[in-house]
Amino acid sequence: MKTTCSILLASAALLGTACQQPKEAPSFRLENYGDTVAVLVTSPTKYILLPVQEDQPEAVVRLNTGNEVEDVWMDVRLARDTVDYYVPFKLGEGQTARIDILNLPQEAVALNLLQLSDTFDKSNREYYRPAYHFTPAYGWMNDPNGMTYLNGEYHLFYQYNPYGSKWGNMHWGHAVSSDMIHWTELDPAIARDNYGQIFSGSSYIARLPKGAEGTDPFKADILLPGNGTEGDFIASYYTSDNGKLERALQEQQSFAISTDGGRTYRKYGAPVLKSDGRRDFRDPKLFWNEQRNEWGMIVSADNEMQFYGSKNLRDWTYVSAFGDGYGVQPRQFECPDFFSLPLEGQKDKWVMIVNVNPGFWFGGSGSEYFTGSFDGNQFKCDNKKETVKWLDWGKDHYAAVTFSCEPQGRVISMPWMSNWQYANDLPTRQYRSQMGMARELFAFVSGNDTYVGQRPVAEMLSLLKPAQTETLANGIQLTEADKPLCIDLDMKNGTSFTLANPEGEKVVFTAAEGRITMNRQQSGIIPTQDFPVDTWAPVAQLCGKQDSYHLQLWIDKCSIEMFVDGGKAVMTNLVYPHSPYNTLKGEGISNIKVSEIAL
Ligand code: FRU
Repeated sequence: MKTTCSILLASAALLGTACQQPKEAPSFRLENYGDTVAVLVTSPTKYILLPVQEDQPEAVVRLNTGNEVEDVWMDVRLARDTVDYYVPFKLGEGQTARIDILNLPQEAVALNLLQLSDTFDKSNREYYRPAYHFTPAYGWMNDPNGMTYLNGEYHLFYQYNPYGSKWGNMHWGHAVSSDMIHWTELDPAIARDNYGQIFSGSSYIARLPKGAEGTDPFKADILLPGNGTEGDFIASYYTSDNGKLERALQEQQSFAISTDGGRTYRKYGAPVLKSDGRRDFRDPKLFWNEQRNEWGMIVSADNEMQFYGSKNLRDWTYVSAFGDGYGVQPRQFECPDFFSLPLEGQKDKWVMIVNVNPGFWFGGSGSEYFTGSFDGNQFKCDNKKETVKWLDWGKDHYAAVTFSCEPQGRVISMPWMSNWQYANDLPTRQYRSQMGMARELFAFVSGNDTYVGQRPVAEMLSLLKPAQTETLANGIQLTEADKPLCIDLDMKNGTSFTLANPEGEKVVFTAAEGRITMNRQQSGIIPTQDFPVDTWAPVAQLCGKQDSYHLQLWIDKCSIEMFVDGGKAVMTNLVYPHSPYNTLKGEGISNIKVSEIAL
């Protein structure tokens, strides 16, 4: 029952042009119905802007369409005392719109600060916004998802919350690029729905077989990998995570297709692949299984990875599993990937990426991988169960998966550059989290074992301006301006060098005992106590014992990505200096080349 008075709040009138009728000024009033506040909007604008206060609990904001199935509802940390920022919530397009707000005390300031608007200002407000790493204009981002290539566009989808810069309301955000460096952010491609949040997954370009053109792909008996021709579409799989269901049913795999380059998706409807009762069952990664001449899917299922097969991308049969007892255990396996890499003089190497959280050697989340063989049915690991191989030795490399259908046949991965230990506490507000740079993966042998290395993609290297060669007398002045840099140098075993800024904030690199260590304990803002731990890469094991190692350091606004000996050892770490590191000092380093990056 309605209990309190209504408030009339008008925002700026939308005046018609000379020959149009003036439109009724958009306005809204609030009405209380028990535990719900209804916001009744007349002549809706495009958005209602919602004030957010990040440390408050989530309220529920629902676009009430009169039909429960179509209602759009999101969890938003609506401001109770002060406002950190606003987020836009899309209104319906009729004469009126009704928003219901639940789980919010009557006295919360948000109720007095709602704004109607046709625009939302996305211009950058963050000092730490990187120059060439992808960030969403606003909102929260985690895992990269569904990356693929079609008709000149690399697609990056990602775990996205458009209603606040902390995790929640998972959508698939979407950006496109011709080079995996300059991204154009588009509207989110797949929104949270009644089947649940849209968790991580993958995409592959698919097509109907000859003779079946015109069939609804959701009804086709057979679907094949696309070949870049007319009629190809993006087939995507994601996990529908529905917290309202019992735990064994909470995570199921859902199918959606896009025939317009990922701008819009048609969902199959109800999820198509259920768990066999396991608690965690998510992050489906599609691949084409040559040996079985059908689609393959690898899904994380508690402590193992399960393989499924399908002819039509809709009906899936269980094939096998791998992982129980392997690597860092017992841990939650997440975000799998599965592909082969050429290996000189040997059979192609199959690689399974398993992202684990927690369990990373330096705390929190990290990307583990296994190398082995695959007969189309079963993955056989080269190593003993206790062997652990990390793709990256920094603390800010997680949920790394690769692009499908890459036109040059390269295997290119992109990591989320963060760690679940502190991802929600990083010192930006307008948006939170960034991706790492795109890296080409390669297999190599060191000692008696096979490893996977990562090197910056050629597109990235092509942006390097001719290098300045420097000799280190009392240190090098890097740059006065706030520019991203790439530094190449050789580092002798048993030495260390430092990148520092005028405030005395610094990052220290040390080569000793077969390791290269990066110390960010005094690197600038230290967001949480889990952040500053030293990370080290076993360079002697990966690159062979050497007197000196070649390092390439890519420095952006708040990150350092280090590639040792062409990417055999890689380390990705965030840093938050108050001003750029502008000096390089140390002993035992030579052949120093400093390159600016032409973005
Ligand atoms: C990994 C992960 C995935 C899940 C997603 C939810 O970071 O936990 O397993 O699908 O994030 O946002």
